[in-house]
Amino acid sequence: MHKILLVDDERNVHYSLQRALGQACRIISAFTGEEALHQVEAELPHLVLLDVKLPGMGGLDALQRIKAVAPTLPVILLTAYGTTDTAITAMKLGAYDYLLKPVDMTTLKGLLGKALQLQEVTEPPGMPLGVEGVEPGILLGRSPAMQDLYKMIGRVAPTDMTVLISGESGTGKELVARAIHRHSLRAEGPWVALNCAAIPELLLESELFGHEKGAFTGAADRKPGCFEEASGGTLFLDEIGELPLTVQAKLLRSLQEKEIRRLGGRKAIAVDVRIIAATNKMLEAAVGRQEFREDLYYRLNVLHLHLPPLRTRQEDIPVLVHVFLRRYSQEMGRSVRGLSPEALEQLLAYPWPGNVRELENTVQHALLTCGGALLTPEDLRLEEQSRLCDASTAPPGPSPLARDNPLEAGLEHALAVHAGDAYSRVEEHLIRQALACTRHNQVQAAQLLGITRHVLRHRMKQCGLL
Ligand SMILES: Nc1ncnc2c1ncn2[C@@H]1O[C@H](COP(=O)(O)OP(=O)(O)OP(=O)(O)O)[C@@H](O)[C@H]1O
Ligand SMILES: [Mg+2]
Repeated sequence: MHKILLVDDERNVHYSLQRALGQACRIISAFTGEEALHQVEAELPHLVLLDVKLPGMGGLDALQRIKAVAPTLPVILLTAYGTTDTAITAMKLGAYDYLLKPVDMTTLKGLLGKALQLQEVTEPPGMPLGVEGVEPGILLGRSPAMQDLYKMIGRVAPTDMTVLISGESGTGKELVARAIHRHSLRAEGPWVALNCAAIPELLLESELFGHEKGAFTGAADRKPGCFEEASGGTLFLDEIGELPLTVQAKLLRSLQEKEIRRLGGRKAIAVDVRIIAATNKMLEAAVGRQEFREDLYYRLNVLHLHLPPLRTRQEDIPVLVHVFLRRYSQEMGRSVRGLSPEALEQLLAYPWPGNVRELENTVQHALLTCGGALLTPEDLRLEEQSRLCDASTAPPGPSPLARDNPLEAGLEHALAVHAGDAYSRVEEHLIRQALACTRHNQVQAAQLLGITRHVLRHRMKQCGLL
């Protein structure tokens, strides 16, 4: 049961709130700001309802002191005087919202629902690391796919195996490669990264293998290449699929013989490097098109790690967002505390073609425009980018569940009859029903559907109901 701390000097407010909310939550009472501060620490409430006008320490002072000890605790201010100044100051000081007295219980209940849900999002239960202090470069994500990945990294890191990492752009391939190096026996040795796509073909060989003085015009000095620099450590070959065929042949030879020859040099130099390669292309397909040497492919692909796109592991999104929020709001001197439930809903629904990198950029941009304590859908501006994903086709025959569940059976019927737009049809039908049941009261209809009023209005617009 959620604990709510009510701070008000008028006893009748305590009485009426207890009557309205006492069934659903536990109400703890305080009558002054000083008492409130004490209760915040002693009782660890989930939310505070705080009167602005209090004897002694005023409500705004109390708000500031509460925020100092419990920055993520949502505080809703209650005020009899609805001046914009109090409202602005309250929001600036990190209030979750404020309500005018006498309190309208329906509005308060709606707000409580949102705020308490928000707190669950802000601090996912059982999160192994506190979100603060997560260093850049640490892999995040609690999805089964990421858990499997961590295990594989743990297993493969201490070996000297060559690893091929594949995945769409922005899925964290470089982060994984660094994690392997950090956990390897070579962690104290050098980490050298070369982006094969970023270097002109003519310079690639000299970058990889180095050159002797005078090896070509402009080679004024002898220069060791990445292989030599990485000796005793790890060489990360990023975008390996972009390597020209000529260089592929030389790379293969170096890997087989564990030695290199500088450009213009005769002497073979023994090198001791571990290779990790990454690609966002389908390398097998490139092999098929004879753009990538098959023998090199097998040489690199001793162990293959594939990073799934972010859209297939939505459960990782909240943790990522919160770490990015903390990191960048601190860096940019912002006091954004979290995100609204609607914003989270949008983040979860968006397909993230640019994966974690796009999510990180989105949070950074949203912080630039966010004026309040919470990121909202307006700050994220995802709607402009959103694309509807193609719905997959209906499964053949009724599922075991549908046989004895009329609702499920109805859905299967809808799938069969309205293949292609079954989802929007069912959704529209549900919305119409909910509105009919509640005589078009949007707040109640949204409650019935288990979505926010904002989302309901958005969907109503899409269905042409608004
Ligand atoms: N699991 C993750 N946890 C935390 N941050 C991540 C994670 N995955 C990716 N990132 C962040 O996303 C950004 C992109 O990651 P990275 O550069 O490793 O992707 P990539 O797969 O190499 O992309 P590309 O193919 O475009 O080079 C980085 O800022 C990285 O810190
Ligand atoms: Mg990369």
